[in-house]
Amino acid sequence: MVLKAEIHCHIEGAASPALVEAQAAKYGADVSVIIRDGSYVWSDFTSFLHCYDVASMLFRNEDDYALLAETYLADLASQGAIYSEFFISTDHAIHAGLTPDAYVAGLAEGMRRAREKHGIESRMIATGLRHEGPEGVERASRWVAENPHPLVTGFGMAGDERTYHPKDFARAFDIARDAGLAITVHAGELVGAQSVRDALDWLKPARIGHGVRAIEDPALVARLADEGVVLEVCPGSNIALSVFPSYDEHPFPKLRDAGIRVTLSSDDPPFFHTSLAREYEIAEEHFGMDEAALLGVTRTAIEAAFVDEATRAALLARLS
Ligand code: ADE
Ligand code: ZN
Repeated sequence: MVLKAEIHCHIEGAASPALVEAQAAKYGADVSVIIRDGSYVWSDFTSFLHCYDVASMLFRNEDDYALLAETYLADLASQGAIYSEFFISTDHAIHAGLTPDAYVAGLAEGMRRAREKHGIESRMIATGLRHEGPEGVERASRWVAENPHPLVTGFGMAGDERTYHPKDFARAFDIARDAGLAITVHAGELVGAQSVRDALDWLKPARIGHGVRAIEDPALVARLADEGVVLEVCPGSNIALSVFPSYDEHPFPKLRDAGIRVTLSSDDPPFFHTSLAREYEIAEEHFGMDEAALLGVTRTAIEAAFVDEATRAALLARLS
């Protein structure tokens, strides 16, 4: 089995329908609106986000989040992953009635258990939600800057890319960067190449979440390659959300051939009927990647991981 690493997965988006149904039973809640026949029900990006938000409301305390992180990481380890970096959202925690402190502590406990039982290393990337606007994203970055945690090593932004402009979030990202957090941002998923260029210019990320629509602009493709910006590519998510009509039309091979540092991740696996292992299979089946090339993708992810150099060296050593 090829060793793997995931650097783009939303923890709330990693909750399986079965786990959410178990949580609903625990709290006496009805989730029949968002889960039918064991699958999440959504039809486009907006209804996906709604479904995801409703599911996240079933995680209400530290223990719930410890269970979610441990379950996700144990499953990932069983797929051959040695490292995971996942997005957290203090906004989702607050909406569910949980303090950001309790949220991070619960997740960290799940990470500790997964590391002890399955040997998988992991880190968290705090995020703000773009559609909540600059004030909300700044609140998220300020909280993480003022409450440092050794396992929260990055800051990013998810949510609806069709709202606001990257420049609106420059201050929020400056706060996170000044606090020593590494930066990634979702761009070039729902909106075209210009959104990637604006994100680079205004937010100065080391990595871009998705970024795949950079393919629409050859000059931007060259810039991403030149600057060594890493793309967190999630092909299964892109197909599920109709960013591209088919895997054969997915730009992963072209981006890679252009010299861009590309990685593979699952984004919100049960929502998109995927897994990290499935993403590696997709790359083998549709993008012509052999085992050595796939291991190279894992190496790129670890090279780009938001970890201290000793941890990076230890992870890289496991690949050779
Ligand atoms: N939040 C969870 N999944 C996301 C995605 N694919 N794009 C933007 N925000 C998200
Ligand atoms: Zn994402």
